[in-house]
Amino acid sequence: MAKNNETLTIIDNRTGKEYEIPIWEDTIRAMDLRQIKVNEDDFGMMSYDPAYKNTANTKSTITLVDGEKGILRYRGYPIDQLAQNSNTLETAYLVLFGELPNEKELDQWVYDIMHHTILHESLKSLMHAFRYDAHPMGMFISTVAALSTFYPGAKKIDNPEKRLLQIQRLIAKVPTIAAFSYRHSVGLPYAYPDNDLSYAGNFLNMMYKMTEMKYKPHPALEKALDVLFILHMDHEQNCGTAAMRGIGSSQVDPYSAMAGAAAALYGPLHGGANERVLSMLSKIGSKDNIPDFIESVKNGEQRLMGFGHRVYKNYDPRAKIIKGVADDVFKVTGRNPMLDIAIELEGIALEDEYFVSRKLYPNVDFYSGIIYQAMGLPISMFPVMFALPRTVGWLAQWQEMLTDDEQKIARPRQVYLGEGERDFVPMNKR
Ligand code: ACO
Repeated sequence: MAKNNETLTIIDNRTGKEYEIPIWEDTIRAMDLRQIKVNEDDFGMMSYDPAYKNTANTKSTITLVDGEKGILRYRGYPIDQLAQNSNTLETAYLVLFGELPNEKELDQWVYDIMHHTILHESLKSLMHAFRYDAHPMGMFISTVAALSTFYPGAKKIDNPEKRLLQIQRLIAKVPTIAAFSYRHSVGLPYAYPDNDLSYAGNFLNMMYKMTEMKYKPHPALEKALDVLFILHMDHEQNCGTAAMRGIGSSQVDPYSAMAGAAAALYGPLHGGANERVLSMLSKIGSKDNIPDFIESVKNGEQRLMGFGHRVYKNYDPRAKIIKGVADDVFKVTGRNPMLDIAIELEGIALEDEYFVSRKLYPNVDFYSGIIYQAMGLPISMFPVMFALPRTVGWLAQWQEMLTDDEQKIARPRQVYLGEGERDFVPMNKR
């Protein structure tokens, strides 16, 4: 499958043997290394790549991230164009099906999603059973997993229609689960979905509706939320998505796989980072404390949360767009005082040799938390706000994995460095 017969020649200096390996898309297949053996009994050579720093786990047509140039595109469309011109459900259609919908397709899609927003009452009771101070992300993960028990048909992952139905259900229900987990944590009664509103508008309704008959979302906040949802929708093979693909490769139903993906996202090095950014900013407290804080980061005592990315070695394009959104939100909500500390911190870090030489720039999480806080969300909701739109990406990647005949159950190899065989030692001899 080499393009223009491009190949890589490998000489094994243990045996003097030469191997010619095809190159495909600047990549060699790890399985092509297996033929490299010292003798017939040898298992063959493997590649060793902890944390998948240089291993492509799949081919994909969904999202392009060029970390060196700071580029992010869904299905070829630059993220800034989508953020400016599209909305959550239109971009979700694009991410899932590969093309922008025409008017009829979009209307049908919006109808299909918005008519699955209601949760089974038993699920509501399940959520209600959590302790009053349960972390909303723990509630989110558990409730998504519980959905699998409500839809046993979801096990038919080879059936495209059944798959589409679960995709629609999940995209429709995650805002409801997210909003219910928030209202539970503050002791408010759950507000039911309003299907006349947009996806983002309905989410604001379920979060903030009080006693009014009909909740009217503020158009600026609705737009800001649409932009944030679009920015977080997919990001190719990150930790959560790799979990979705890895778990889904066992052919489990998508609810169970997605609970695992959401759990991966919960971690502080991934989707939990925006929560940590806010804690960090409040700990810094005032601009005067920034120099001491930067020193402690440089001494390795802590990390500057919201900075650095495994792939982006340039300004994260999403961070730029989010900074613009912040201004629109603050016009409605009032300015979040954390913003001044964040801007000053960013300015100092971007000039400092430590961060410059390591190519550490603000990532998507540096400003998103400040916006969510201004919208009235507690920091414990931040990872939930990330998982909500990422549902679309997870499902697109899951579907792509299932329909790729090169994929099998994910099963990495290891390099065993433990003891050789030895006899069991009785207790009195240890
Ligand atoms: N603050 C201080 N130093 C940092 C930071 C940071 N935020 N990030 C990386 N470094 C330093 C490391 O200490 C290391 O320095 P060294 O070479 O002297 O040892 C160097 O930069 C390279 O760092 P790695 O840890 O090898 O980079 P990696 O690609 O593994 O990590 C990660 C990426 C996890 C995102 C890291 O930058 C980090 O912990 N950032 C803070 C958490 C964060 O914001 N996460 C959100 C990521 S975006 C997202 O998930 C949506």
